[in-house]
Amino acid sequence: MNNTFLKACRGEKTGYTPVWLMRQAGRYLPQYKKVRAKVDFLTLCKTPELAAEVTIQPVDILKVDAAILFSDILIPTETMGMKLEFSESKGPILYEPIRDEASIDKLRDLKPDEDLPFVLETIKILLKKLKVPLIGFSGAPFTLATYMIEGGSTKNFLNTKKMMYQSPVLFSKLMEKMTDTVIRYLQLQINAGVHAVQIFDSWAGTLSPYDFEKFALPHVKKIISVLKNSKYKNRNQELKNIPIIYFAFNSSGMLKLVKQSGADVFGIDWRIEISDAVDMLGSDNAVQGNLDPCILFGRKGLIKERVEHILNGAKSAKGHIFNLGHGILPETPVDNAIAMVDYVHELSSKKGEH
Ligand code: CP3
Repeated sequence: MNNTFLKACRGEKTGYTPVWLMRQAGRYLPQYKKVRAKVDFLTLCKTPELAAEVTIQPVDILKVDAAILFSDILIPTETMGMKLEFSESKGPILYEPIRDEASIDKLRDLKPDEDLPFVLETIKILLKKLKVPLIGFSGAPFTLATYMIEGGSTKNFLNTKKMMYQSPVLFSKLMEKMTDTVIRYLQLQINAGVHAVQIFDSWAGTLSPYDFEKFALPHVKKIISVLKNSKYKNRNQELKNIPIIYFAFNSSGMLKLVKQSGADVFGIDWRIEISDAVDMLGSDNAVQGNLDPCILFGRKGLIKERVEHILNGAKSAKGHIFNLGHGILPETPVDNAIAMVDYVHELSSKKGEH
């Protein structure tokens, strides 16, 4: 297996900088759209053969150094008893959003082995077929809670913040329940054999640093500490210490707090120079990022220039995994995504990067 990605996560020397793209399986690929034309999105997530097929597509097409399990952060909310739908126009919808204690009490505890057999099965197929590491993932408790409280996507997170500020005990009850869910969900994926995990905190940046530290960070800390101290079945010594990536989007103003999560790798968005992010995080961790996804709409020369700038900026980090600063956009020209991956490989191996 090509383990360049895992080495970079651990801060070990690699011959070139590994690269993958957040949301690399998806609608910008005609091959994904072909599979997706046959089934709706949730069915795709729950059909192991198809989920495995679309997980592998970007590895073959883009030549990225890691695969990410095809699923969605909201799948466990459905398992916990909420009605989940993905609408073409509105994105995810969670019916009967959580606004009171009774609706929190109604949420079922996740029993991963029984509740999510399709996740296990997809991982099993992928481990047989992949020649690059497989990344498992979960949403972070705060990000999951925003969807559950708002009932879907939102602009100003008012219902979430109302609960936080008006009923902190209730909010904390929901966060504790979600923390438990995330722990069980990631343990399931690790036991099944994923090589690394990423925790997506897409909406952490909607909080002030004060509130992030008070309401969100303690739960992420707990998840990482429990995962690091758990015993896993079927894993040899080398695989036991699996890298944990924490991606708190839009959090460049509070990276010192983000670091306290205890993750091995920190995802960085494009709103900060990656060299400044490394200065703030210190040089004992790896970083992942941080190209603006919209750069992929520019001409190839521009893409190459920006790739080089990021590679140079990340030199002082203990390890660097090249990525976008957020998910690839559905309208992205595939050619440019392929070119970007090539530039990362070419420019970093020439320089003997990391
Ligand atoms: O390739 C991969 O990255 C693996 C699969 C993956 C998906 N979603 C597939 C998906 C992953 C890791 C996610 C994470 C996810 N899902 C996040 C965190 C990352 C981020 O972008 O901040 C969030 C917030 C979600 C919730 C979600 N899922 C939204 C808001 C939407 C609708 C908007 C959109 O992009 O369509 C989804 C749907 C979704 N998840 C699609 C895919 C491929 C599109 C569904 C389709 O095919 O119609």
